[in-house]
Amino acid sequence: MRVEDLVYFCAPARLIVGAGTRAQLPDLLAHLGYRTGVLVTDTFFTGHTPWVSEYVAAASAAGIETLVYDGGMADPTTVLCDTATAALRAQLCGKTPDHVIALGGGSNIDLAKALCLTLPGGLPIRDFAGAKPAHACPLPLVALPTTSGTGSEATPGAILVDPDSATKIAVMDNALRPRIALIDPEFTYTCPPRVTADAGIDALTHALESFITIDSLAYPRHGNPDPAYSGRSALTMLFAREAIRLCARYLERAYRDGGDIEARTGMSYASLYAALSYGSAGLNAVHGIAYAVAGVTHRSHGSTNAVMLPYVLDALKQERHAELAEVARLFGIEDADEAQAVARLPPAIRALVERLGIPGDLAAFGIPENALPALAADALAVTRLAGAFPVADVPARYAAIVQRAWHGQLDATATAPGNRQAA
Ligand SMILES: NC(=O)c1ccc[n+]([C@@H]2O[C@H](COP(=O)([O-])OP(=O)(O)OC[C@H]3O[C@@H](n4cnc5c(N)ncnc54)[C@H](O)[C@@H]3O)[C@@H](O)[C@H]2O)c1
Repeated sequence: MRVEDLVYFCAPARLIVGAGTRAQLPDLLAHLGYRTGVLVTDTFFTGHTPWVSEYVAAASAAGIETLVYDGGMADPTTVLCDTATAALRAQLCGKTPDHVIALGGGSNIDLAKALCLTLPGGLPIRDFAGAKPAHACPLPLVALPTTSGTGSEATPGAILVDPDSATKIAVMDNALRPRIALIDPEFTYTCPPRVTADAGIDALTHALESFITIDSLAYPRHGNPDPAYSGRSALTMLFAREAIRLCARYLERAYRDGGDIEARTGMSYASLYAALSYGSAGLNAVHGIAYAVAGVTHRSHGSTNAVMLPYVLDALKQERHAELAEVARLFGIEDADEAQAVARLPPAIRALVERLGIPGDLAAFGIPENALPALAADALAVTRLAGAFPVADVPARYAAIVQRAWHGQLDATATAPGNRQAA
């Protein structure tokens, strides 16, 4: 509890978690009155797993008709969404489905979220960029995440690449939060190490970034009576803390041994808890700068977050000292001198990033030094994230962060072995 908090907490209406829980879904949907659905996935799931055909058969036995769309792709574009909308509407012959199911990682869940908006009227998804128009009523979404993870199964947003500008656009509204999020850790057992690492560091970033973001009292809600994000509170920090603890314990284990069921389950919970934190608290500089890094490098969402994470933590050592001391303890950094423990955290996180096979600085990540001013400017243009960075002079901090991230510079006072280059 924090006396000053102004909590505005939003989550999926139903959360179902556990190995094998996917088998419950057809009966639940029938019980809730759903009869015609669209299942959005990609060809990995139709071609290499039994999950789609098993679901469609069981749903049919429960009286639910399901049209499968397996054209999902990593980092879906607005063009993909519009093409899928047209193809599905043609197959549906004028009928509107009463629910949409997403099976896959954040990419398929985001595409399905966007389709919840476009399927009823056939409008291009760009018409919904930013806040959804008040009259638009999205179809109910059921999210079945297969990575741990983006947490898109608990958030209000869909992120799509706009091929015209090469940047990502967000479609954002609390009405886009899934009605049902079903987290069956067995879905993640087939994730290859690269996907496990990238999605896992994304979950850790969500937890850390929302743990140290702007407070709920200070969050700029701009008079919105139903804000999608509203700053951190004791409630969101509860979930963030546990997500960080689970990531510290299980992320590397799941990466090294995909058959480690305890680690896979731990990361399923970590991803969900991180989403229950950032899905209301919101994010800031790591994601803001990572979007700009992705615009230049086109590398995975998780890896672009990973390369920025140590440098943003390093930049917040003054403003979020107590929180970072707590995070350091969760990562097993014990130091009688608390300032030293805090200083050792960013190098330790960077060492983890590198052990997960991700470069530890922007130069190694493929960003040319002369691109840094534009990178900082592009990041600042994502005002919903820049405005939540809890520092006084955000432009100056962003500029310093990208410089230090390019040179691989972390605080000179840290004596941890992971700090290879002191500032
Ligand atoms: N809406 C949100 O709140 C939100 C938050 C974070 C990220 N995102 C978005 O999520 C996307 C990244 O999602 P992601 O990291 O989950 O990866 P992804 O969905 O892009 O999937 C990456 C690859 O892994 C494969 N894959 C997924 N699950 C698998 C499994 N169980 N077994 C084998 N292969 C599997 C996919 O088929 C795909 O080829 C980005 O586009 C990002 O912008 C959205």
